[in-house]
Amino acid sequence: MLFIHPILTLDAVHHTVASAAFARVPGLRHSPDEAERSGQHAAESKQSDVRTAPGWLSAQAPVHFQESGDYHLPVFPAEIAEWMAAGPEKFIIDGTLGGGGHSEIFLKAGARVLGVDRDPEALAHARGRLAAYGDRFSTWEGNFSRLPEIPEIQLGERADGLLMDLGVSSRQLDSAARGFSFRREGPLDMRMGPSSPRTAAEIVNRWPEADLVRILFEYGEESSARRIAGAILRQRTVKPFETTLDLANCIEKAIGRHGRTHPATKTFQAIRMAVNEELESLAIALANASRALKPGGRLLIITFHSLEDRLVKRFLKHRSTRFLDEPGWPEPRPNPDYQFRLLARKAIAPGPAEISLNPRARSAKLRVAQLLDLTS
Ligand SMILES: C[S@@+](CC[C@H](N)C(=O)[O-])C[C@H]1O[C@@H](n2cnc3c(N)ncnc32)[C@H](O)[C@@H]1O
Repeated sequence: MLFIHPILTLDAVHHTVASAAFARVPGLRHSPDEAERSGQHAAESKQSDVRTAPGWLSAQAPVHFQESGDYHLPVFPAEIAEWMAAGPEKFIIDGTLGGGGHSEIFLKAGARVLGVDRDPEALAHARGRLAAYGDRFSTWEGNFSRLPEIPEIQLGERADGLLMDLGVSSRQLDSAARGFSFRREGPLDMRMGPSSPRTAAEIVNRWPEADLVRILFEYGEESSARRIAGAILRQRTVKPFETTLDLANCIEKAIGRHGRTHPATKTFQAIRMAVNEELESLAIALANASRALKPGGRLLIITFHSLEDRLVKRFLKHRSTRFLDEPGWPEPRPNPDYQFRLLARKAIAPGPAEISLNPRARSAKLRVAQLLDLTS
């Protein structure tokens, strides 16, 4: 198992982390808001349509989908439109296509958009939704950490903008067969797509206790991590966990219910992040972003978790610092990684109007930077 600090070793991560089980992120803390997000989504959903789960899913259970208009409400719509400044002749990569809400903003502004997602169901949905834009919209299935492998990039094209709106969509959270929800019976899956390296069942039934404690504590900020991991170990020796409710009930029995938040909320979030190697993918994507953008191209990143935001903030701070200085150096030295200019010095937070319309937005942060033209 590989333990990595996401900031200090960002470039090393690019080369080594893809096959690692997960990254260790010591001492970083994050918002409990994010941990509540999946519960909130589940509570808000309305089932209205039934389709069959795509073949890569671990269970061929029916998937209960919401109306297509409810697929996912994009966060920061006005800010994304303004900071991306999409328009005719512009080429934008939407690294997290999801329901296609942000992509549609860019398409309406006249841009050409490539939508990337690791979830084939999201790609199929967005292709249908955005079909009216013809060949101005195309898709690529894969992890955004693999940006340099996108055919357009391989052919030498560079984008005017790259958006990453991190995490899972409302649709993914609300579909029982995807296994993200602790309120709906489904397989313990939690993969965003077939490229995710493991299922939640593998983690819950096979990982050593110490690793379970660590992800619950670090990714979930779960103060009862030890008690929950102990209960999981005891239960799995009797019978392996199969469903989301098996796990949610085990957690509830172990730590009880306090307040309105479901006791499994933080554990589900932590397992989801480990299943999909979310921090590792982000670290690699940041390191690769300059290879996908034109000089002057814009990088917009929306985070929902303080570990993610810290990774983005430190990356951008380092890459936008022209000179490095340390006590003991006779003078500041040029930063060899200097690449970006911060367009907004601080993270942008949603206003009260957006939060009341879209409660999911409350823990969102947007950071915006521009790739420098260092050739002139
Ligand atoms: C929050 S949703 C994006 C919603 C989208 N902006 C919209 O307007 O509908 C995140 C989407 O990104 C995808 N995703 C998350 N991490 C990814 C990664 N590392 N590579 C590719 N897709 C990813 C998820 O599958 C999900 O569909």
